[in-house]
Amino acid sequence: MSEQHPEPQPDPDTPSQTPSAEVSSSDDVDRSRLFPRVTSFRFRRGTLTAGQERNWDELWPKLGQDLEIGRNRIPQPQLDLTALFGRDAPKVVEVGSGTGVSTAAMAADEPGVDVIAVEVYKPGLAQLLGLIDRGGLTNVRLIRGDAMVVLTELIAPGTLDGVRVFFPDPWPKSRHHKRRFLQSGTIELIADRLRPGGILHIATDHADYAVWIAEILATQDRDRPHVIPLTTESPLSLTRPTTKFEGRAERDGRRINEFVYTRPLQDG
Ligand SMILES: C[S@@+](CC[C@H](N)C(=O)[O-])C[C@H]1O[C@@H](n2cnc3c(N)ncnc32)[C@H](O)[C@@H]1O
Repeated sequence: MSEQHPEPQPDPDTPSQTPSAEVSSSDDVDRSRLFPRVTSFRFRRGTLTAGQERNWDELWPKLGQDLEIGRNRIPQPQLDLTALFGRDAPKVVEVGSGTGVSTAAMAADEPGVDVIAVEVYKPGLAQLLGLIDRGGLTNVRLIRGDAMVVLTELIAPGTLDGVRVFFPDPWPKSRHHKRRFLQSGTIELIADRLRPGGILHIATDHADYAVWIAEILATQDRDRPHVIPLTTESPLSLTRPTTKFEGRAERDGRRINEFVYTRPLQDG
């Protein structure tokens, strides 16, 4: 887990299918090529403030881990989630935690629930470290890497109580839709990693992405791991704070669409 990650470009307005073409330093070009598949993020060099540097140096070794990247990387062993937090408690993965505003607020609201925040954007993770520190939170761990790899390799089937995907990059142009994190295969993967009764909570302010998500949720293969709309009370909090994305959406009059689904207690 020693290799440094390239920074993603979180502004999805002008995404590129070839992230390596967008970055200036040859170092980053080489690193971006280490990701062999189409990713839902793109690369950006990130600079940390002095405070974030301090958080990173002090807290990352205790709370965070970097995923190994590169063509010759070997698949990572599954995480021992109980050992990671030192207790047996419900476990939630948050995909693309950004600056961690929702992560920290929801973790503070639910001290009995453990949250694994997955993000590729180092300054965002550094901000979350600051929120964890200031809030005295003990129930958050961070992974710097591709959430697809985390779900595929690090999380065992049937082990998560929840997966949160808040304001995933919408990749609005049709030719970039393959970059959207939420695809049929991802929903099946998430369903497989949830325990029966586990919750998938998605929020988006992008109308077209909402239609896309509704479509893939409606057309799942019911013979495979899948999720269904939650019709009973949620075992996890569904209350999100207003993040910068949500605040901007509200100001621009864009509706927030939320999807709260659950893995059925019995598949099929
Ligand atoms: C639009 S931002 C939303 C951030 C946050 N969830 C919020 O509501 O403020 C989407 C975030 O997802 C991250 N992201 C996109 N694809 C990812 C992936 N495959 N693995 C980890 N993070 C990812 C991006 O780096 C970006 O920070």
